[in-house]
Amino acid sequence: MSAQPSLETFQKEILSAFENSSSLTELEDLRVKTFGKQGSLTGMLKSLGTLPPEERKERGQELNKLRQSLTQVFENRRDALAEAEMKTKLAQENVDITLTPQPDLTHGSLHPFTEAMWELTQILVHMGFDVAEGPDVETQENNFDALNIPAHHPARQDHDTFYLEDTDAEGQNLVLRTHTSPVQIRTLKNAKPPIRIIAPGRTYRCDSDATHTPNFHQVEGLWIEEGITMAHLKGCLAEMLRKFFKKPDLVVRMRPSYFPFTEPSAEIDIGCRWENGQLILGGSEDWLEILGCGMVHRCVLENCGVDPKKHQGFAFGFGVERMAMLKYGIPDLRAFYEGNPLWTQHYGFGASHAFSALDQ
Ligand code: DAH
Repeated sequence: MSAQPSLETFQKEILSAFENSSSLTELEDLRVKTFGKQGSLTGMLKSLGTLPPEERKERGQELNKLRQSLTQVFENRRDALAEAEMKTKLAQENVDITLTPQPDLTHGSLHPFTEAMWELTQILVHMGFDVAEGPDVETQENNFDALNIPAHHPARQDHDTFYLEDTDAEGQNLVLRTHTSPVQIRTLKNAKPPIRIIAPGRTYRCDSDATHTPNFHQVEGLWIEEGITMAHLKGCLAEMLRKFFKKPDLVVRMRPSYFPFTEPSAEIDIGCRWENGQLILGGSEDWLEILGCGMVHRCVLENCGVDPKKHQGFAFGFGVERMAMLKYGIPDLRAFYEGNPLWTQHYGFGASHAFSALDQ
């Protein structure tokens, strides 16, 4: 029983050290010194083996009791210190919500092109179109030939093409794609109908004025499935335009046209009027040409190994910047690419505007 007083002293010392510890770090140090591998209590427990068996049992029970009570005290102190430290931290990190915001904070804004592209894509994806992609550097075969625009076809001249000197690994002649229509070819060659895709992307033509820039963007659409008609085409496009321009009663008409890759081909016009030189969408006083479309030409389907007797469908394509210019009243296309921050502040959108196309 000679060990009794020293155990009591030991307990008192440790307890008072725990109680007096003033931070979690200090308490953690004490924990390691007591319960850790080299800790004092651990040392006592280890030395049990050296005692004669009759002393070992009693001493063992005492030490275990001691460990339990010290652990309890340690945990209580740890909780109390943690709470106190959190309170101090919260008091120090107080935010004064009555302060007025800094007036000189500058916020970025979304480019009107980005907003338009997101909205158009979102509307079409919501209708059930998947997004497909193709490369900016395209083979002449995909950009022209497979789309039923052979070498000496007059339509090739309309495209102001950037021809590349290099060929691809298979020796094919390359161009910067002049439209997103080659994604139709890539999709038709690789997927089986039913096919319902849109291909948003960059396009290039060697041209520059108020309504043309060498780099611009288009969205292509393709729906191939048994039983698809021009009525579905008109329905889809009318829905897309009404949603995009946020005008549920926008008047949409189809006018016969010509594209080598569609037959019959049409252009879609939207109803509008002019007031003091300003364009106002709606009504049917005047018409504005907005996009090209048609039923996919039999030759295009055959070029891609699709049987035109079994499957047919429609395609459409439009310029994204043109849509944005009409919607936001932007007069000159070249400004889209000048990178003038004042222009972007004026025509741009706060991030919260994004993806707003479907809420109406
Ligand atoms: N690729 C045409 C262009 O760039 C636009 C177009 C017209 C695409 C009719 C189509 C379509 O898919 O059917 O001018």
